[in-house]
Amino acid sequence: MTIHSRIIGTGSYLPSGVLSNKDLENMVDTSDEWIVERTGISERRIASEDEAASDLAFYAAADALRNGGVRPSDIDFIIVATVTPDMLFPSTACLVQNRIGARGAFAFDLSAACSGFIYALSVADQYIRSGMYRTGLVIGSDVFSKLTDWTDRNTCVLFGDGAGAVILKADDGARGIISSHLYSDGTSWDMLYVPGGGSRIPPGVDMINKRLQFIKMRGNETFRVAVNTMCVSITETLKSNGLAADDIKLFIPHQANLRIIQAIARKLNVPMDRFMINLDRYGNTSAASIPIALDEAVKEGRIDDGDHVLLEAFGGGLTWGAVLIKW
Ligand code: ACO
Repeated sequence: MTIHSRIIGTGSYLPSGVLSNKDLENMVDTSDEWIVERTGISERRIASEDEAASDLAFYAAADALRNGGVRPSDIDFIIVATVTPDMLFPSTACLVQNRIGARGAFAFDLSAACSGFIYALSVADQYIRSGMYRTGLVIGSDVFSKLTDWTDRNTCVLFGDGAGAVILKADDGARGIISSHLYSDGTSWDMLYVPGGGSRIPPGVDMINKRLQFIKMRGNETFRVAVNTMCVSITETLKSNGLAADDIKLFIPHQANLRIIQAIARKLNVPMDRFMINLDRYGNTSAASIPIALDEAVKEGRIDDGDHVLLEAFGGGLTWGAVLIKW
């Protein structure tokens, strides 16, 4: 008997603070027109000063638990995908475990930047498929506003804060995660990174003076690699499951840039209405972007039982990958 991991509940949380392109016009040399034309983003949500990744994760998890009809005591494990944890340790997942009261669950964080949720879903799927555990909570939560250099127009217009969560449950039927496909290329680690704050350049005056606590990115290169790698992971996922692009009801890509998604749609010859898009309202929320978009798609009724849904991501590391789900 094959066990599949089925998503039985989704949830999300967006902080209430809204930062519009017009607001950014007053902060750096940019314009609403430039941002919309080059990225598709109109506004993004920004966490308050006292909100951290575990706060956003907690609210998204509570929403997913409610929607899935699952009690915290039923959860066997919690994985939080994040590169903006509350602290270096303990893990954000342990903070969430405490806050939701999932006493019996083991919990850990996973770092794969914007691909984090795809990686975490794949890890969770292995625990469930193997029969080791039956119920998992997987969360993507990132607070990029705290790593953003608000004087750098090349990056500050792109990111936003948020969290999304899913409850996975072992199921003996044919529905659930069908396959996951993960990739990394550490040779390009410096295409997109935060140099300071870790053990190589610890927090300190020198780090602050050189502004090394902020995101550094080679945007143009990132754009090209994102299109190519996401196309490859989609094509390989379809091929390994004997499916065509037409068999996918909804593509849920990482929400980094509308032009990246349009380029992928063109290459795959798939109409844009089969891609979930919400980056206009939230910007790039890193590991949270896919579970937030998935939650919105579910709440908007865009996915029916038995539909094939394909999640695909790309991020720093470099990391990329895709997860195919039969809903
Ligand atoms: N407002 C106005 N002008 C700007 C801005 C801005 N906010 N940002 C850059 N420009 C200028 C540049 O300075 C440049 O000016 P110049 O020609 O005088 O030098 C010009 O616009 C063009 O810059 P490009 O970088 O070539 O612009 P491009 O069309 O590539 O768009 C962007 C830049 C939006 C960053 C794009 O490259 C992109 O989206 N890349 C992917 C980024 C991404 O997805 N990152 C996240 C990955 S996931 C993760 O792990 C976090």
